[in-house]
Amino acid sequence: MIIAIDGPSGAGKSTLSKKLAKRLGFVYIDTGALYRTVGLKFINKGVQLDNTALVEEVLSDTTVDINYVNAEQRVYLDGVDVSDEIRTPEVSLMASAVSALPEVRAFLLGMQRSIANGKNVILDGRDIGTVVFPNAEIKIFLSASAKERAKRRYEELIAKGQDVTYEQVLEDLEKRDYNDSHRAIAPLKQAEDAYAFDTTGNTFEQSLDLLVEYLKTKGVE
Ligand code: DC
Repeated sequence: MIIAIDGPSGAGKSTLSKKLAKRLGFVYIDTGALYRTVGLKFINKGVQLDNTALVEEVLSDTTVDINYVNAEQRVYLDGVDVSDEIRTPEVSLMASAVSALPEVRAFLLGMQRSIANGKNVILDGRDIGTVVFPNAEIKIFLSASAKERAKRRYEELIAKGQDVTYEQVLEDLEKRDYNDSHRAIAPLKQAEDAYAFDTTGNTFEQSLDLLVEYLKTKGVE
């Protein structure tokens, strides 16, 4: 069974998906981490995104893998664990930029499908219910106001010891929202058959309870 959870940055997709997966005994796949890993490679190689020949060349020499360590997803770039390195604001923006490239989306599409193949999975991303798994049994579109999402993201980054301001986080998030929903291929949008769930004003526990209730109505528990 596939549960697709899409939505903009900071809507709570990954924390909620992780918790739900644990509760249901599903595998959790964070697809944003794959785009972040490609973004990191492009930063390391200084790739200009309009240089299609170089984009293709670098992709052909890139491997991205995931593995689970203590039930946590880890992501590897060319064999090296970069799970922590991909969480900086710089990589966030680059991930959003590279995710607009058709070559990058094609590179990661098959990978996402094969990782999920034959398993009960919850995937979170931007285009899971629309493109990667349009036939997913359950689709949820999670959102929240930009201000609330920025506040959550800011608190997360500060807790990790990163040097950021709320204004910068809000600005980056709005930029990513714009990029992600205006790109030509697989833009962020709600699938027609997705359940829309706005988490603005909810605590994490409230959102989790509401999602668990929704899944029960779909026979998943
Ligand atoms: O979920 P995240 O913030 O880690 O994702 C990083 C970027 O990757 C996001 O800005 C857009 C892109 N992305 C995508 O285009 N499609 C996905 N399924 C997941 C992420």
